[in-house]
Amino acid sequence: MREAGGSARVPFLDLSREYDSLASELEPAVLEILRSQQYILGPAAERFETEVARYLDVPHAIGVSSGTDALWLALAVLDVGPGDEVVTTPFTFFATASSIVRTGAVPVFADVRPDDLLIDPDAVARVVGPRTRALLPVDLYGQCADGEALDTIARRSRIGIVEDAAQAIGARRGAWRAGSFGDLACFSFYPTKNLAACGEAGLVTTADDRLAARVRRLRDHGSERRYEHLEIGFNARLDAIQAAVLSVKLRHLDEWNEARRARAATYAQLLGEAGLDGDVRPLTIAPDSVHVFHQYVVRVRKRDALRSHLEERGIGTAIHYPLPLHLQPCFAGLGYRKGDLPEAERAAEDVLALPIFPELRREEQERVVRGIAEFYR
Ligand SMILES: Cc1ncc(COP(=O)(O)O)c(C=O)c1O
Repeated sequence: MREAGGSARVPFLDLSREYDSLASELEPAVLEILRSQQYILGPAAERFETEVARYLDVPHAIGVSSGTDALWLALAVLDVGPGDEVVTTPFTFFATASSIVRTGAVPVFADVRPDDLLIDPDAVARVVGPRTRALLPVDLYGQCADGEALDTIARRSRIGIVEDAAQAIGARRGAWRAGSFGDLACFSFYPTKNLAACGEAGLVTTADDRLAARVRRLRDHGSERRYEHLEIGFNARLDAIQAAVLSVKLRHLDEWNEARRARAATYAQLLGEAGLDGDVRPLTIAPDSVHVFHQYVVRVRKRDALRSHLEERGIGTAIHYPLPLHLQPCFAGLGYRKGDLPEAERAAEDVLALPIFPELRREEQERVVRGIAEFYR
């Protein structure tokens, strides 16, 4: 699609650019799986698990069928179930909370901090109670949640932590690496993620040998040996084609995350130069945080009108997330009302995600910022 001025659209995300640069590595890897006829788990999955465990510096990495299933498995191996509560953020992708419900437990939402939209440890401390079994923080947009503060709360209350690191592979915060704080962590390799499969895939990580063994068992119908089922599990196994793709892409992940950080820095500089303070507010990055910018999100005035203005100029944007989870129709039974979690509700009205991906070009970023500046002029 072309703009009136003749320049091509600035896509919110263009996966073809990554594919074009990687086809010569990806295609033989996929062909090898097709020729092997070992399509589920097997050597390709084991290889990826070993490589990603080394990358994340964790003792155990277990490949699974999606980030959603990773969350369910992680909660299940902590024996979270009916009668339990799990404290999480209302400002995340739906699967974070639906996974809690899937175990039979109840999600309890703690509001986010306005500056970075990560779960607020003070709000968490206020809702932890006798039924709380675990915390489920999210490393939103590619920035790690405040692991140190959450870890203190969890230790004090003797509860578990499952880290939803679906958006944050490669991120760090102080001494923590995304995927290494808490009892277990979950990653998604959905095709739009920083490390992306060509279908559905996910990962559970843990330092605990016993929990790791149980995740492995539960992802495969509760079985360790064929046709012997020790407990009721699930089909949540990693597909070998996805594992082969992920092994190829993992080699490029650091360079891609670096490119995302460079593009975030370019936005910050261009927005600053355009004098948009007051109209456009970037989110805060903690000084000890290494962000991987799965999304580049700003908070803006007149968000929906700005979005339409950009769309008319061929500039793609997205809203993550337009409705906080405590107000989702399917969670009406939890009894939350509008106004209960004001920071998440405000964020839902003013966040806007700008295009960010490693192959995004400088002139495309300049067009995005010009489009925004034109709107507020
Ligand atoms: C924060 C968060 N949690 C969980 C998920 C679920 O992952 P998947 O789509 O792989 O099931 C996603 C991504 O989609 C996510 O962004």
